[in-house]
Amino acid sequence: MSAIPEGTARSSLVRQLQAAYSGELAAAYSYRGHWRSLTRPREREQRDEDRRIEEAEWHHRRLVGELLAELGAGPSRRRELVMGTIGRVFGSLCHVSGWLLPMLFAGRLEAMNVGQYDTAARAAGDLGLAHWVPVLEEMTAEEGRHEAFFAACARTHRFALLSRVVGWRLPHD
Ligand SMILES: [Fe+2]
Ligand SMILES: [Fe+2]
Repeated sequence: MSAIPEGTARSSLVRQLQAAYSGELAAAYSYRGHWRSLTRPREREQRDEDRRIEEAEWHHRRLVGELLAELGAGPSRRRELVMGTIGRVFGSLCHVSGWLLPMLFAGRLEAMNVGQYDTAARAAGDLGLAHWVPVLEEMTAEEGRHEAFFAACARTHRFALLSRVVGWRLPHD
């Protein structure tokens, strides 16, 4: 198999990171909408966890922004607009939709993030950006923990299998 030219590998990593950067925006906005919709005392634990996850997504976004800058690139304006809108819409839907839909959306986003950071970690290694590999690997692991958290929440719902409709296969199915 022929090696991928470095320029192609670099542009592909930039696209992957632009997708991840804007995906983090959608995630952070929608988690913020979700935790703000949880006002009952018995929802406190979920609210706290969602707030922690929102903070983690902003942190990831800062890191991905730094890596993009190191690659001489920046965010994609189109993706920022699309994902920012999606995040805000889902964030506000949380106030009216019940909790299953946001859980499924969150799980789907997290699963996408796992794939993006896993691919990005390997690409960064191939491009000689070794210092980013452990950072991206840790982000992959953390997104996996987020996905597992939302899967555990979704599993308690009798319509959890609707996850397939949004294109998310619950982990360990
Ligand atoms: Fe993230
Ligand atoms: Fe996440």
